[in-house]
Amino acid sequence: MRIEATVNGERTEAEVWPGESLLFTLRERLGLPGSKNACEQGECGSCSVLLDGKLVCSCLVLAAQADGHEIATVEGLGEGDELHPVQAAFVEAGAVQCGFCTPGLVVAAADLLARMPSPSEDEIREALSGNLCRCTGYQKIVDAVQAAAERA
Ligand code: FES
Ligand code: FES
Repeated sequence: MRIEATVNGERTEAEVWPGESLLFTLRERLGLPGSKNACEQGECGSCSVLLDGKLVCSCLVLAAQADGHEIATVEGLGEGDELHPVQAAFVEAGAVQCGFCTPGLVVAAADLLARMPSPSEDEIREALSGNLCRCTGYQKIVDAVQAAAERA
């Protein structure tokens, strides 16, 4: 089946299998490998994207469900060559180790700051609780989100 969606601001079409996940379509058909596939079960958040402005696990959304909708991935967060403030803060705070969780965390953190510009540490931890990181121990990730909030 053919779907049409707006991905990172651009009208995009793709030929998909009816049971295919949005994550697969983004990565394998649309050349957007930023969203990662770590569990494919909605447990880790590494595949987080915004669907019509709402944070979702793209491994749990059918590509067919995205037909006619708007999708924002980590690739669309920055402005041209300029990193999104959350991306820059992750780099500066050393919140990236293997990096596998990073795109999902960046999307979730950017979503949080768009809704809540000055979150407390507890609010940050709550908002990112669906995103698992096996490397950092989370403190530097929280530091990065706080730094991004302060900069904004
Ligand atoms: S790959 Fe989607 S939640 Fe883990
Ligand atoms: S940096 Fe490796 S899983 Fe988070």
